[in-house]
Amino acid sequence: MSQPESVTPASIGIHDLALATSHYRLDLGALADHQGIDPAKYSVGIGQDVMSVLAPDEDIVTMAAEATARILERNGMDGIRTLLFATESGIDQSKSAGVYVHQLVGLPETVRVVELKQACYSATAALQFAIGLIARDPSQKVLVVASDVARYDLGSSGESTQGAAAAAMLVQANPGLMAVANPAGVFTQDVMDFWRPNYRSTALVDGKGSIKAYLNAIGGAWTDYLNQGGAPFESFASICYHQPFTKMASKAHRHLAVMAGQNPAPAEVADYLADTMRYNRLIGNSYTASVYVALASLLDTHDGDLTGARVGLASYGSGSVAEFFGGVIQPGYRDLLRVQEHRSIIERRIPLDHTAYEVLHKTTLPEDGREYRTAAETTGPFRFAGMGEHMRRYERTTD
Ligand code: CAA
Repeated sequence: MSQPESVTPASIGIHDLALATSHYRLDLGALADHQGIDPAKYSVGIGQDVMSVLAPDEDIVTMAAEATARILERNGMDGIRTLLFATESGIDQSKSAGVYVHQLVGLPETVRVVELKQACYSATAALQFAIGLIARDPSQKVLVVASDVARYDLGSSGESTQGAAAAAMLVQANPGLMAVANPAGVFTQDVMDFWRPNYRSTALVDGKGSIKAYLNAIGGAWTDYLNQGGAPFESFASICYHQPFTKMASKAHRHLAVMAGQNPAPAEVADYLADTMRYNRLIGNSYTASVYVALASLLDTHDGDLTGARVGLASYGSGSVAEFFGGVIQPGYRDLLRVQEHRSIIERRIPLDHTAYEVLHKTTLPEDGREYRTAAETTGPFRFAGMGEHMRRYERTTD
């Protein structure tokens, strides 16, 4: 058993957190209209209003580079020696998407870059690995970048739970936003609830089974957290859950509350989690980024001062791995928030009609190495320009 909950001696955690998402969006009302079903199935039943949809010249690299560039604009590059890229929407079986980001944002050669994968969980592993590196040398900083596009087949039950976003975090000693506390509770079990074989661009899922697997794994991580000496359930001012759809966070919170001997009414659960859900309701599933989008949503939209508050993070990746850990919100955190920036990237997305969304969904890239240019559509700072000789090409849209 490790030591009871404490912030690591040299407090380490998230100093800055920046989000990016897509150029387009699809309102789930338009999807419900197309399907001829009650839109409340989405707005109430799964708790989603809108999903982000990538333009043809956007991908996990362009979103990640946009979020990372914002972190570097504010903080500079001093001390950064590692970039950990978390994704389950890999663009190459070999090369890390993080290496493209490294080049696009102009990081120096003296930075190690690697990609991590375990479904929606791997950004949390990256955060813990970053803390380990910084504990060894507190002068170092680590960029943890999570970027994903959630894609299911048209007409499948998962279609309404698509989305796309990136979250970039600067992890360092004496962080400005949230110090990550010990211990962490972890859980792994081999289960086929959601997966994407190498030859598919869309995920396969056992929808109902995945909900059970999520609850089972989060419950397991929570039990391990307590066994490791973690803080009591009622001491958390808020908990940010992985949100494939926001209603899933409500199911998970109720599950943990019951394990803790509580029996909250649905309205109490909704009220407790509301601030963590505002962004995800409008972005959709962003896989690895989702739980950190929830953290940004909480910090940006909570009406009141969270200084000193203990916040829980409940991370889940199908297949499956879960982790529960706590963090302490730092004095002065409100000066570091990016409320207007985040509001703007969510609000500026252009709505698609259903036909245009279907066309984009069906667009595929050539696999024969021929020259291919993508249409210039994104207004973001980086674009996926196309391919040739089996190589992806990226460019800045602005100087
Ligand atoms: N008004 C209000 N509510 C309605 C409604 C209406 N008109 N119609 C249906 N509902 C409710 C249902 O009662 C149900 O609520 P409960 O779950 O609380 O019972 C909810 O809306 C969904 O209805 P269905 O179960 O009928 O929906 P579905 O068959 O279309 O499937 C889904 C929903 C399983 C989430 C599906 O969208 C899916 O497979 N999504 C992808 C998988 C996923 O996100 N799994 C989550 C756990 S795995 C994970 O977290 C990793 C990850 O990121 C993928």
